[in-house]
Amino acid sequence: MRQSSLVVVANRLPLDDNAAPDGACEWRRSPGGLASALHAILQQTPATWIGWDGGIDTAPALPDIGTLRIRPVALSEEELRGYYEGFANSTLWPLYHDAVEQPVFDRGWWETYRDVNRRFAEAAAEVAEPGAAIWVQDYHLQLVPQLLRELRPDVLIGFFLHVPFPPPELFMQLPRRSELLRGMLGADLVGFQRPQAAHNVAQLAVKLFGARTTDDQITLDGRVVRTRAFPISIDVAEMQALAARPDVVGHAEQLRADLGQPRRVLLSVDRLDYTKGIEHRLTAYSELLRDGRVKVRDTVMVQVAVPSRERVDSYRVLRDRIEGEVGRINGEYGRVGEPAIHYLNQSFDRAELAALYQTADVMVVTPLRDGMNLVAKEFVAARAANTGALVLSEFAGAAAELEDAFLVNPHDVDGLKTTLLQAMDADPADLERRMTAMREHLATHDILAWARAYLTALDHTGRLAAGLRR
Ligand code: F6P
Repeated sequence: MRQSSLVVVANRLPLDDNAAPDGACEWRRSPGGLASALHAILQQTPATWIGWDGGIDTAPALPDIGTLRIRPVALSEEELRGYYEGFANSTLWPLYHDAVEQPVFDRGWWETYRDVNRRFAEAAAEVAEPGAAIWVQDYHLQLVPQLLRELRPDVLIGFFLHVPFPPPELFMQLPRRSELLRGMLGADLVGFQRPQAAHNVAQLAVKLFGARTTDDQITLDGRVVRTRAFPISIDVAEMQALAARPDVVGHAEQLRADLGQPRRVLLSVDRLDYTKGIEHRLTAYSELLRDGRVKVRDTVMVQVAVPSRERVDSYRVLRDRIEGEVGRINGEYGRVGEPAIHYLNQSFDRAELAALYQTADVMVVTPLRDGMNLVAKEFVAARAANTGALVLSEFAGAAAELEDAFLVNPHDVDGLKTTLLQAMDADPADLERRMTAMREHLATHDILAWARAYLTALDHTGRLAAGLRR
């Protein structure tokens, strides 16, 4: 078994299998936020990535991607249900997103979650060279840091939570709250998107374990765990390069023509998830149409809803509701050849997204709660001409950085309507000022800056971050 000095452990591998035109199976980079984020880094430093390949009962031998070795962890049907669809995505996901959907507590799921976390920890322990750094990602694997500490006390352990960490009163509802918190605090460094998450964890560590805490550390069982916010970003250079490609620019123009050359295009791109606020947004848009503040021929809305977690009940129910509502709005306000909303329940590759971002006049990103939201950052990166407006939820992590967006409370439908109109009717000079400021921020806060900050904090010698150059 070849060993690595950096091991990334994440639920998913950064790959998807994709049927090639001849029917053969080929692997391509997967579209998720985490996979996109880490892709840029791991091409540049020798590492192993441990994760699920997306199938059932499979652990295919997968080729390296450049210097990155791929080590799949197989999940059975039962494990998929209990660990991924169950505890991770029906218990933790809704609870960590302010319980906008009711979390389900199922004792069987917990046991599967714990067993699968142990398998990931064992796989990481096996491929880590002595003194290696192991970087564990996200809520699916919250027990892995502590399990690794038991298996490999010699390694440096990092944990990064990509989603929000809830307020203590919500976390306290979890039947297995102590194990989950202790699992995460097995790391040397715990990173979050927002400083508030670190405060929440510190409060819980005091309450549940009597730990001692300061602003950025927790002392537990005689060991110091450092905690800090590291807001994640995107590969800005990649999105800028895509947006500048002549075929992408041409595609953006074609899209606008296909939409009927309206005066204004509103765009939303979300995974089809109840945290994304799609229904609130549809309500606001439908009321603007009803009130005559928006006219179909003049303005179109494009809603991309990327299929996600389709076997989980709450996602199926949500899809039916959204599609019913889009149908109602189009039935009521559309005309022949001119739907009010262009709804696309599909995945798009990165070049197509870059074209869509350029087609939009107003990008509407209004999640009810979101760890960061990389779509907002991708839109900004794609707007080289400093045009276009970003309407952004206050409850997305990105709002703390993109302060020049049109910030909005998505729960407030009247406020959402007003903000959409403001963004649609904004003075181009104001839009240019806002977009320039947001692009300046992103220029120095890209994915490499994020990884460098995290890995330098994890290992003060700078050894890990040394590979992070363009
Ligand atoms: O934002 C959290 C996250 O788990 C990302 O890591 C991932 O890209 C996205 O949600 C998609 O989720 P899933 O892996 O369940 O398809």
